[in-house]
Amino acid sequence: MNVYLETYGCQMNEYDSEIVRAILKNGSFRMTQSLPDADVILLNTCAIRESAHSRIHGRLGHVHQLKRRNPALVVGLLGCMAQSLQEEILERHPVVDLVVGPDSYKRLPRLIHAVCDAGGKGLEIDLSEYETYSDVYPERRPGVNAWIACMRGCDNFCTFCVVPYTRGRERSRDPESVVAEARRLAAEGYKQVTLLGQNVNSYRFDDTDFAALLLRVADVDGIERVRFTSPHPKDFPRPLLHAIASHARVCKHIHLPLQAGSDRILERMRRTYTKQEFLALVDEIRETIPEVCLSTDIICGFPGETEAEFEDTVDVVERVRFDSAFVFKYSERRNTIAQRKFDDDVPDALKTARVVRVNAIQKAISLARNRDRIGRRVEVLLERPSRKSADDLLGRDDGNRCVVVPRGDLKPGDFAQVRIEAASANTLLGHALRGSLGRVRERV
Ligand code: SAH
Ligand code: SF4
Ligand code: F3S
Repeated sequence: MNVYLETYGCQMNEYDSEIVRAILKNGSFRMTQSLPDADVILLNTCAIRESAHSRIHGRLGHVHQLKRRNPALVVGLLGCMAQSLQEEILERHPVVDLVVGPDSYKRLPRLIHAVCDAGGKGLEIDLSEYETYSDVYPERRPGVNAWIACMRGCDNFCTFCVVPYTRGRERSRDPESVVAEARRLAAEGYKQVTLLGQNVNSYRFDDTDFAALLLRVADVDGIERVRFTSPHPKDFPRPLLHAIASHARVCKHIHLPLQAGSDRILERMRRTYTKQEFLALVDEIRETIPEVCLSTDIICGFPGETEAEFEDTVDVVERVRFDSAFVFKYSERRNTIAQRKFDDDVPDALKTARVVRVNAIQKAISLARNRDRIGRRVEVLLERPSRKSADDLLGRDDGNRCVVVPRGDLKPGDFAQVRIEAASANTLLGHALRGSLGRVRERV
């Protein structure tokens, strides 16, 4: 049978789709990139905001038309929306045959066969305290970067967030299996590994904490860069900052989700830090890792957020001067603590106005920070052709900034030393220096 798999949501979902591909291939299914050739359509879904759900409801409308033409088609919903809505999806979308949550992918081959053979519906939504899929080697697309999930789940229960309900309890993978996977990836030619977790820096397995894991992966020969996402500001002990600072292969980029600047809102969000503590952490990070690139996530219009409290968010954005930020409108999620305790009382137009304001301020800061890089020489790992021109390649610098260079003799997977010549808020443009191919090892 041919399976078509479409992925929505975060990097963890991308990684899970690689796990699903591996499980299905071992179960003698074939993957197809062509929707009309599919016998099975799987959507790996996200639930983080209502807009993520809306996209899937829309997509299922289209899938419904395909099923009318081919009634034998099997349609499955995987991932966080499947886990969150469960039976409700089967009721609302009769086109769906299978609903499978993030800890049940090993059962997929059996479930698909059961639906094909006996008809009916399949629902597997048990969350596990142990499943880490460490025994499944993901079926990755060839490229420069490989994800490795080193922990799954989240126990933080930030009040706005659906993830603890869709992904279950926090659990970490044996470091030996993570390092073995990194070695195999290096042998296959991957240059960069990104360690993934919903709450990646709370990783712990026996005596191995996240700093120790990061250094072990960075020591794997052939892996030239190690990144990680997403960390929580509560788990940045000094040894972790020193680990990042000390190892040339650990990228100097930290995603540090702020969410809000007001102490009262942070408490209502249950983020466990205050504005001052967040600012102090940023200072400590910048002292320890002077060249660090900082990005963040921000939510506007959390229940009860007043104009003055929103100004606290603006204040942190202006003081920290992040390199980039993802800014979201608060979206009420079912069963979360915020949904149960608070009224979603900030009008939609006001949420939008706040998002627009933060984005405008951040864009000016990103532009100024990127312009500061003009004239500098940076090391770029080239990833793929640029979308705008086949004559250009896109890569990333150590801080994860996008850099576009003329292709010349370069190819994806090369490291190039690039002189930055121009900058927008999102992208740096430059030229590779002649004879500069390869890593500059004595960088740190
Ligand atoms: N585990 C990660 C990220 C989780 S989701 C972390 O803790 O940082 C990514 C981002 O989506 C969050 O950082 C938050 O800014 C945003 N988000 C999560 N729930 C949301 C909601 N209900 N409404 C709007 N944005 C939300
Ligand atoms: Fe959600 Fe908070 Fe967990 Fe991140 S740390 S996944 S925002 S509950
Ligand atoms: Fe979405 Fe689930 Fe990731 S809700 S952001 S796919 S963890």
